[in-house]
Amino acid sequence: MDYLLIEGGKPLKGSVEISASKNAALPMIMASILSEKSIRFENLPRLTDVDFALRILLELGGKVSMNKEGHHIVADVNFTNDASFIAPYDLVRKMRASISVLGPLLARFGKAKVSLPGGCAIGARPVDLHIMVMEKLGAKITVDDGYILATADKLKGTEIIFPFVSVGATQAAMMTSAMAKGTSVIRNVSMEPETVELGHMLNSMGAKIEGLGTDTLTIHGTDSRTLPGPNKPIKVIPDRIEAGTFAVAAAATKGKVEIKNAVSEHIEILLYNLRESGVCVENTKDGFIVDASNTDKIKPVDIITSPYPGFPTDLQAQWMAYMSVANGNSTITEKIFENRFIHIGELFRLGARIKYSGNQAFIQGVDKLKGAPVMATDLRASACLVIGGLVAEGVTEIHRVYHIDRGYERIDQKLSELGAKITRNRE
Ligand code: UD1
Repeated sequence: MDYLLIEGGKPLKGSVEISASKNAALPMIMASILSEKSIRFENLPRLTDVDFALRILLELGGKVSMNKEGHHIVADVNFTNDASFIAPYDLVRKMRASISVLGPLLARFGKAKVSLPGGCAIGARPVDLHIMVMEKLGAKITVDDGYILATADKLKGTEIIFPFVSVGATQAAMMTSAMAKGTSVIRNVSMEPETVELGHMLNSMGAKIEGLGTDTLTIHGTDSRTLPGPNKPIKVIPDRIEAGTFAVAAAATKGKVEIKNAVSEHIEILLYNLRESGVCVENTKDGFIVDASNTDKIKPVDIITSPYPGFPTDLQAQWMAYMSVANGNSTITEKIFENRFIHIGELFRLGARIKYSGNQAFIQGVDKLKGAPVMATDLRASACLVIGGLVAEGVTEIHRVYHIDRGYERIDQKLSELGAKITRNRE
């Protein structure tokens, strides 16, 4: 197993190129189940989760070819009626996002058997809303032996009001109701850029989805098993969480970094909070610059995570590492996931002073963090520890970095290029 060794205390300087978005790519790959013709993905990020999503389609019987081109993967996906409608436990358990095959398989085959994904490090993460979506569209659902079995001769347009925003359930509703007979109106939906991108892809394939980027979608179902498919290759948007992670790392180390191939509007709230903390943020043609080289003391800033355009839960852990070295006290309220504070114990090991109760963390900024061996517990928690390690005096060892490789492309290399002392080693 690999681990990262970071000698902290060096400000990050230079420029970094952001990769394509993992969270946009995953549902887009699953949506290719609905396509009549082969789909080319032009710029998939080289991440284990993306690899895994493509492997799911392959194991289901789809034809997938992958080629490395520069830092990207170019993939051609062709899903035909010979494929299977069963996604077994071994495929689904490794990545929760695999649940998003349920709707497309049901729409394409009239039946789908998908293993329940199970819990994960950041909470129980149920799939009840995914099931509710399928039932509302007319599917019969049974849950047996750890599997969801969904059947529907015909999916029918419906009205759905989500009790709270779910990214995955919104995306499931889009992919499935696009194929139903009649119109669906879906309220309180995810407005995340990744969801909007999925909508654009589905529309380019022949779906009729209106209201993308608002809280209500109107979807005119095509009453078909497949969509014709897109007329040009699919290009995935830049990863706003990766961009945000580098932005916070630049601020925390009091460095100056140009973040290229990033869409600042996608993380407006993070950039706003960085400015509030006393850092300069300036937009550029294809991204933005974070300049903390003249920041004397980092001002504490409270955050509350919420669905887009609120503060992303996927940047909460990184923000906590940053606030650990702020000049004063701050709070973080986690509103999306229960149990998403596992990184606190590890930040402690670096000398952070944090208490928490329920979904609120109270951070007392300290002058310095100190390097120590720590353990990554999930994807974003590992990014938080990398930031902690970059700030800390001395050496930090981060174990179980396979978590970080799920969602950050070449993070050690990109950080090295910014002047960080970071190496990847084998246990
Ligand atoms: C997606 C992102 C993940 C991000 C999260 C919130 C992908 C691949 N993953 O995850 O990185 O942290 O959005 O922005 O895009 N819930 C239910 N029942 C359900 C579904 C969800 O109760 O059927 C709950 C979850 O437990 C959570 C909340 O709803 O508390 C939001 O989760 P959701 O938005 O669905 O997250 P994901 O789509 O799994």
